[in-house]
Amino acid sequence: NATVTVSPAALGFTAVSKNKNDIVTVPEGYTVSVLYRLGDPILAGVAAYANNGTDTNFAGRAGDHHDGMAYFGLAATGATRDDNSSTRGLLVMNHENITAPYLHVNGVTAGATRLESEAIKEIECHGVAVVEVTRATTGGWSYVQGGALNRRVTPLTPMVFNGPVRGDDQIKTVYSANGTAGRGTINNCANGVNAWGTYLTCEENWAGYFRRAAGDNANRTAKQVVAFNRYGVTQGAAGANNWASVTAANAADQANFSKWNVTVDTTKAADGTGDYRNEANQYGWVVEIDPYNASATPRKRTALGRMGHEGAWPANFVAGRKPVFYMGDDSRGEYFYKFVSNTPWNAADANATDHLAVGDKYLDNGTLYVARFDATGQGVWLPLVFGTGVLTAANPTYAFANQADVLINTRLAADVLGATKMDRPEWAAVNPANGEVYLTLTNNNASNRPLAGTNAANPRHYNDPVGAANNFGNPNGHVVRLKEAGNNPEATTFQWDIYLFGAGADLDATNINISGLDTSNDFSSPDGLWFSRPSNAGGLVNPLLWIQTDDGAYTDVTNCMMLAAMPGTVGDGAARTITNTGTGGATATQATFVGKAPGMQLRRFLVGPKECEITGIDSTPDGRTLFVNIQHPGELGSPNTPTSNWPYSQSGTAAGRPRSATVVITKNDGGVVAL
Ligand code: FEO
Ligand code: CA
Ligand code: CA
Ligand code: CA
Repeated sequence: NATVTVSPAALGFTAVSKNKNDIVTVPEGYTVSVLYRLGDPILAGVAAYANNGTDTNFAGRAGDHHDGMAYFGLAATGATRDDNSSTRGLLVMNHENITAPYLHVNGVTAGATRLESEAIKEIECHGVAVVEVTRATTGGWSYVQGGALNRRVTPLTPMVFNGPVRGDDQIKTVYSANGTAGRGTINNCANGVNAWGTYLTCEENWAGYFRRAAGDNANRTAKQVVAFNRYGVTQGAAGANNWASVTAANAADQANFSKWNVTVDTTKAADGTGDYRNEANQYGWVVEIDPYNASATPRKRTALGRMGHEGAWPANFVAGRKPVFYMGDDSRGEYFYKFVSNTPWNAADANATDHLAVGDKYLDNGTLYVARFDATGQGVWLPLVFGTGVLTAANPTYAFANQADVLINTRLAADVLGATKMDRPEWAAVNPANGEVYLTLTNNNASNRPLAGTNAANPRHYNDPVGAANNFGNPNGHVVRLKEAGNNPEATTFQWDIYLFGAGADLDATNINISGLDTSNDFSSPDGLWFSRPSNAGGLVNPLLWIQTDDGAYTDVTNCMMLAAMPGTVGDGAARTITNTGTGGATATQATFVGKAPGMQLRRFLVGPKECEITGIDSTPDGRTLFVNIQHPGELGSPNTPTSNWPYSQSGTAAGRPRSATVVITKNDGGVVAL
C-alpha cells in the first residue's frame, strides 16, 4: 500500500544504461517476470511446450512474435467484463510473424515444396490470442490454461466482411462466392481498443505472403496490375514461407495452403469465385475482435481502408462527437490516415452487451482521410470519397469505380490526392489529457527517400553508420505530433510539430541530435507508442508517453529499448533550419520546421535481450502492472546456434531456444510504474 504522489511533475526512476545483455533490464527498484511465451499451451488439454521443434497444435498455444497487446478487465470470477479490475483480465495479443527455424527440429526443411507439417505450424503461429491472466494475492501474475475465454484467431479462422467493401466483386473468392466472408488474419502488427470493450487488430505486411506466378500480369487488367504493384503482391514472387507449395495429405485441407497462391487459374470462372485470384484483397484491413465472446466471428472493418495497417488508435471518446481513429501505413514513403465515423458517440454504448453490433454502428460508415503536412506547420485531412475531386472513373492514373474500389486501393487514392510521404508511419497515440496525437516515423533510407526528398515533416537526411557500413537517410527516425483544429478530432485541418528526433548522443547536435539526447535517453527507430491509462495515478494531468524501439541503426551499441516521457504540448518547440548531408558529402538545407527544444523529460526504462524488438504495451487500470512484449529475440540464429537464450537467460540459464514473450513489470514498493 505504497503512497503514490498523484500527478507528479517528474519521472520517478533511474535511467537504464544502454547494453547488449541477453536479458530484459529494468530500473533499480523494479521486477520483471516472464508471463506468456511462444508455444505456451492456452487451451485445455494441450501439452506443455517442449521447445525442441517437435511441438504441434499451435492453434491451442501462444503464437510467435508477440506484438500489439491490450488488457481487458474481468470480474473476480466468471467471464464478466470489469473495466476496473487490476487483478484479473484478458490479454489480447497479436502474433505478428514467425522466426521459422526455431519452430522445427532442425530448422526449415530445404526444398522447393514445403512439408505440410511445418507449414501448418507456421500458419497457426500467426494471428491473435486471447488469454486469461490473473494476479495472485502474493502479487505474481500467471496465465490460465483453459480459461473460458481463451482463444486463438489464426490465418485460417472464419471472418466476415463489413462496411462498403462487403459483397464487392474484388473480394469474391472460392471461399466466399458473394464476397461477404473470408478466412483469417495475418501479420497482425499493432492495435486499438474501443470504449465498448473490443480489440482492433491490424494487418500490416500481408502482401509478402502471397505467390503470384511469372506471367500472371497477362491474365490481369491493367488496373489490377497497377494495384498489385502499389501494394507489393509481386509477379514472380513465391510468397514468404512458400506455403502455397504444400500438397495436403487430406484434400479437404488443400485450401489452407492453396489460398496463398493468387495466380489466375485460367480454367476457372473469371469472377474469382473458382480460384484464389482475389484472395490478396481479403487482407490489409482492420479487424474487430470481441474478447468477451469466444464464439463471435471477427469482423473486417473495410471503411477504415486497406493498406499496411500498423494500428488503429481512437481519439478520446467524447459524448456527442464522432469517434475517430488514427492509422499509420507502415512502409517507406507511405501515409498517415484517420477515419471519422458518421455516428456521434453515445456513451451508453460503452456498456452494450452485443459488442460487435456497436462496432457495426460506429465503424462501418464514415469518412477516411489522409494527411498532408504543410511546411507552414499546418496540415490538411484529405477525404478519400469516391466521386469527389479526382477520385473518379476519369482519373488518368487509376480509374476508380466506386467507394469499395477507393477503399481496396487506399494507397492509390491517397497518391492522387497529394498526401505527404512519410518516413514509415508506425504507431500513433492520443494524449488522454488534451487529445494531441503522436506518430512514430520509425526510419527511412536513402534509396527510398534521397537527400532531395525531405519535407518539413520528414526533414533529416544524414549518415549514422552501423559498424563500418554507411547508413544514409533518416536511420534513427522521429516522432511527429498533431493538434486538431479547435481540439476537435473531426476537424479537417490541424497544427503539427516534431516532438522528438532519435539519435545517438554522440551525433551532431545541430543537424542530427536535434532533441539534445544524452546517454540516459538516446535511442533509434521509434515504433511502439502508448500513453499511460488515464485511470492511474498519473491521471489526466501528467500522462506518460511510452516509446518502444525496433532498430537496426543503433544495434551495434545497444539492444532495442523502451523509454518513458512527459511530453509537453504541440507548439512548445523552436523553429529550426538544418543542413542535411548525403552520400559523397553533398549537402542540402531543409526548409524551416518546428521541433521541440532540448530539456524534455525522457528517460530509458527498459533494454531488451539480443536481437529483439520491443513492441506492445498496456497496464492494469491502476498502472501498477505493466505488460510489455519482447518480439523475436535471437532472430538471426538457428536451432543449433541460437543467438539468444532469452527468456531462459533471464533467470541465468544458459540454454534453450529463444521465445518471444510477454513480460510483467512491477515496482517493488507496489507503486505506479515509472512515477
Ligand atoms: Fe509490424 Fe510496422 O511494425
Ligand atoms: Ca516486427
Ligand atoms: Ca511496429
Ligand atoms: Ca518496426
